[in-house]
Amino acid sequence: MSDQIQTDLPPADDDDTVPGIQIRNLYKIFGPDAAKHVEAVKAGMTKADLNRKHGHTLGLSDISTDLPAGKISVIMGLSGSGKSTLLRHINGLIMPTAGEVLIDGQDVVKMSPEELRAFRRHKTAMVFQKFALLPHRTVMENAVYGLDIQGIPREDSTRRARHWIERVGLKGYEDRYPSQLSGGMQQRVGLARALTNDAPILLMDEAFSALDPLIRVDMQTVLLDLQKELGKTIVFITHDLDEALRLGDKIVILRAGEISQQGTGEEIVLNPQNDYVRAFVKEVNRGRVVRLRSILRRKADAMDWPALHLPGNTTLEEAAQRLIDAPGDLVTVLSRQGQPRGIVGLEDIMRSMLASPKKAA
Ligand SMILES: Nc1ncnc2c1ncn2[C@@H]1O[C@H](COP(=O)(O)OP(=O)(O)O)[C@@H](O)[C@H]1O
Ligand SMILES: [Mg+2]
Repeated sequence: MSDQIQTDLPPADDDDTVPGIQIRNLYKIFGPDAAKHVEAVKAGMTKADLNRKHGHTLGLSDISTDLPAGKISVIMGLSGSGKSTLLRHINGLIMPTAGEVLIDGQDVVKMSPEELRAFRRHKTAMVFQKFALLPHRTVMENAVYGLDIQGIPREDSTRRARHWIERVGLKGYEDRYPSQLSGGMQQRVGLARALTNDAPILLMDEAFSALDPLIRVDMQTVLLDLQKELGKTIVFITHDLDEALRLGDKIVILRAGEISQQGTGEEIVLNPQNDYVRAFVKEVNRGRVVRLRSILRRKADAMDWPALHLPGNTTLEEAAQRLIDAPGDLVTVLSRQGQPRGIVGLEDIMRSMLASPKKAA
């Protein structure tokens, strides 16, 4: 929402809608004869075979996913699984061997070089793991960098940048240099720079992975707070499931260039579909992810609704806490409209919190 910035500024973009991203049957093969091998890969040739027989690297294989407008989508997977490659297809830094990258229906792959440059500049902004700040520029000068390139006068760009520098908590640091800042503060500058561009799509490649654990959680909070007012389409890469669960409205798990599983965090934690996902999920604190609505059961006809009422999106951890202080050990789970939907007992909660993920059938 550009009206967070003073309204006397020219809008960075006259088209204010936030786009969604649809990726359709995307393949990326690295190597000199990539196109020649795409049919073999489509017919099932593995990454190992492609490499052994033809010396080509399979970066991505048959990726299809919708990254919803105005939401945070997280791409997760081990190192080398194809996360950065997928992200770079979204702003056309990498062109696929086959497939489509649709931004509100327009295929990035089919854009002319000029269209692509304009799209990248006005619609997308990136935040990198290593911050990528310019060392000889101050915080303010780094923040306005993207607008400098667009030829926006400093008078306007500094006003926009000041707003975002303040919003990421760096007021008073405008004239410092990156080397005078901690890692966490440098990444706040990276974020302020990306936000100053006022692009509706924000691409974040392991943006918090280099930070100390506590700083990292702080930055997640900063991003979530900002997103409440921004409603941007954010694509966030991580190899950490806790981070993915905290940030992601949707999570796409990659393995060796393929989608291993995708869905909401809760769906993935409750129903991991293979051993790769199960290995990630095993370490998760289920009490913070699973919601009452996912474990409720029907009330027996003769029974009264328990006195403690909680909304269906209450986490198990929160519900357990409330139940400990309540007279009974049952809770009435409410629908979004506030209607009683079912009941959950303290024992159900404990069982679900302690359960290890189910084996897929
Ligand atoms: N420019 C390139 N040339 C050849 N292989 C590449 C290139 N970029 C990435 N790859 C390969 O593609 C796979 C995915 O890489 P990447 O997207 O960087 O993974 P991640 O970000 O998940 O760590 C890896 O096997 C990597 O070696
Ligand atoms: Mg990467």
